[in-house]
Amino acid sequence: LSAQKDGYRFFMEKEIYEQSSVIADTLLGRVTEKEVIFEELDSQLFDGINEIKLCACGTSYHAALTASYMFERYSKVKTSVEIASEFRYREPIMTADTLFVVISQSGETADTLETLKMAKNAGLKTLVICNVDNSSMVRLADATILTRAGVEKGVASTKAFATQVTVFWMLSLYLAQLKQSLMQESIEKQLELLRSIPACVKVEESMHERIKRLSKRYLHGHGFFFIGRDIFFPLALEGALKLKEISYLHAEGYPSGEMKHGPIALADPELFTIALLPEHLLYEKSRSNVEELSARDSTICAISPIEFDKADDFIETKNQKDYMLEFFEMMVAVQLLSLEISVRLGNDVDMPRNLAKSVTVE
Ligand code: G6P
Repeated sequence: LSAQKDGYRFFMEKEIYEQSSVIADTLLGRVTEKEVIFEELDSQLFDGINEIKLCACGTSYHAALTASYMFERYSKVKTSVEIASEFRYREPIMTADTLFVVISQSGETADTLETLKMAKNAGLKTLVICNVDNSSMVRLADATILTRAGVEKGVASTKAFATQVTVFWMLSLYLAQLKQSLMQESIEKQLELLRSIPACVKVEESMHERIKRLSKRYLHGHGFFFIGRDIFFPLALEGALKLKEISYLHAEGYPSGEMKHGPIALADPELFTIALLPEHLLYEKSRSNVEELSARDSTICAISPIEFDKADDFIETKNQKDYMLEFFEMMVAVQLLSLEISVRLGNDVDMPRNLAKSVTVE
């Protein structure tokens, strides 16, 4: 088995390092200089659609949340996001002008599959974003986009998430083309950014080494807050979920601007704040939220391209051209941080207690 790990200590680590090449596969044949192409989609799927509803569980839910910002910002389509186990039982109103999109690495998660059936029964058009061809969801949905992440072995999802967000970025531009909600020039700029994701998620040895070293400060304490704004909020949720899954430490993801409405009461040196501070999205606002936490003595680990003097630890990211690329680079940083904390705690990174790769029972 260890041979399959190609010299990496864990599958999760290998899969983090694979992200650059699997994202290149996800983009393959789908992004030209001028447009996004999805040969697997019939553009009629979007006829008469005024709203998108995204539904998923776990990490896939975080990809869906990220997508909701992109669909509204780039495609100008009203979008809502649902947790599958909630949606199933809350008697939702479903109208025929809604495209129902499920997201699943495995295509087998029971709750998500059930919501897909509900949407079909209600007569909605359906689309699945999935990593496994011929899975139950792929067989059921009207249309499929495969993420092409390859087999993911680590229970804590990494490369599947990375490819899901990549697909959503492409899909939001594809819709922008259809609806002409962005100028051709802006689309072309976005396409150039898309093509640079593989380079941007390549793991820098210096960053990995830095995270290995600083992780020793974060093995105890009474909790972690991962904080961010906009799409960095779902990334904060995902960072916190990764840490919980494999380190068994308590972690929460929170919108930076919401900390003052309660959680800041927890601030003390044993409260660890992992702050996502991208340069190109609400930097000043996010920084002032972190300053408030620092003033109340929370221990701060800042992830940012801009050195931050109030931080106890600093994970330096590169100066990217756009916040979307910062998102991908910071995604790698939070994945590595969870990995290294878990390794130091002596846990089985690939087989965390109480968790399953795919939850096919309710
Ligand atoms: C399980 C896994 C998670 C995953 C979730 C949804 O809880 O441990 O990593 O995000 O299921 O799985 P799916 O295959 O539907 O994306």
